[in-house]
Amino acid sequence: MKREHRKLSELLEEANSLVGISDSPHLDCQLILAFSLGQTREWLIANSDKYVCANQADSFRKLISRRQGGEPVAYILGHKEFWDLTLSVTKDTLIPRPETELLVETILDTFDYATRLVVDLGTGSGAIAIALALERPTWHIVGVDINPRALKVAKKNGAGIANLDWLQSHWGNALNNDSIDLLVCNPPYIAMDDPYLDGLACEPQSALVSAGNGLADVYSVILEAQHLVRSEGHLLLEHGHNQQQQVCKRLMACGFDPTPLLDLQGNPRAVLAKKES
Ligand SMILES: C[S@@+](CC[C@H](N)C(=O)[O-])C[C@H]1O[C@@H](n2cnc3c(N)ncnc32)[C@H](O)[C@@H]1O
Repeated sequence: MKREHRKLSELLEEANSLVGISDSPHLDCQLILAFSLGQTREWLIANSDKYVCANQADSFRKLISRRQGGEPVAYILGHKEFWDLTLSVTKDTLIPRPETELLVETILDTFDYATRLVVDLGTGSGAIAIALALERPTWHIVGVDINPRALKVAKKNGAGIANLDWLQSHWGNALNNDSIDLLVCNPPYIAMDDPYLDGLACEPQSALVSAGNGLADVYSVILEAQHLVRSEGHLLLEHGHNQQQQVCKRLMACGFDPTPLLDLQGNPRAVLAKKES
């Protein structure tokens, strides 16, 4: 063995340096090492007694030091799994969360294949729009975002999907009134003084934070949905775990009939609301 060669099991011990930074230090370390070697995590686990050269060990150490600095694994790898997709993500896009799959699941459970115009407002990486477009080829999906850099990532993720379009707009400004069958939105909803934000410093704050105790954007979207969604059409909104009552109240005041939804952890997470005729 040459002096500079490193055993993979030895590099995997770097996981110890992520304790206190990550909730899953071993998994993070495996993912980053596998990525830096261009291998899968399964390969890595099966071959941890193999050696790599000094250059490969250096490349890994550069990546792991980013994780040590608090950068999320998804930004280091440049992708994140959502639904059954692997989506590109950059620092211009929120990292799609597993909780948001509730929105896709609810929509697929509730609406059949009949032709519909569905708008994903605040599409980010395009996660919701792309999952829906692939699951329901008969629907026309439009992903909207105010951030052109996020839209660029969404377009790349959705390249080649025929029933999908993208639009840059401040919420629904560029959309026609009474035109939408289903409006789905995961807006920024974290309050500016929420201590939870400290752990999310790498993600775009414009995708996370909203004024009015986190509710300003949720309320803007409800107000716009009043005009954009056709009579008896639907609005599906993700929100913070402590916001459901206020969201339902505002929806009722704006002519919607809300059904509150819980995520897999049993937390209030979204509301599906039907626009009354
Ligand atoms: C919480 S992220 C959701 C991203 C993606 N839909 C997801 O679930 O992973 C909110 C998104 O709304 C976008 N956004 C914020 N303000 C907006 C506005 N006024 N008009 C349109 N999009 C907006 C942000 O750029 C961001 O991509």
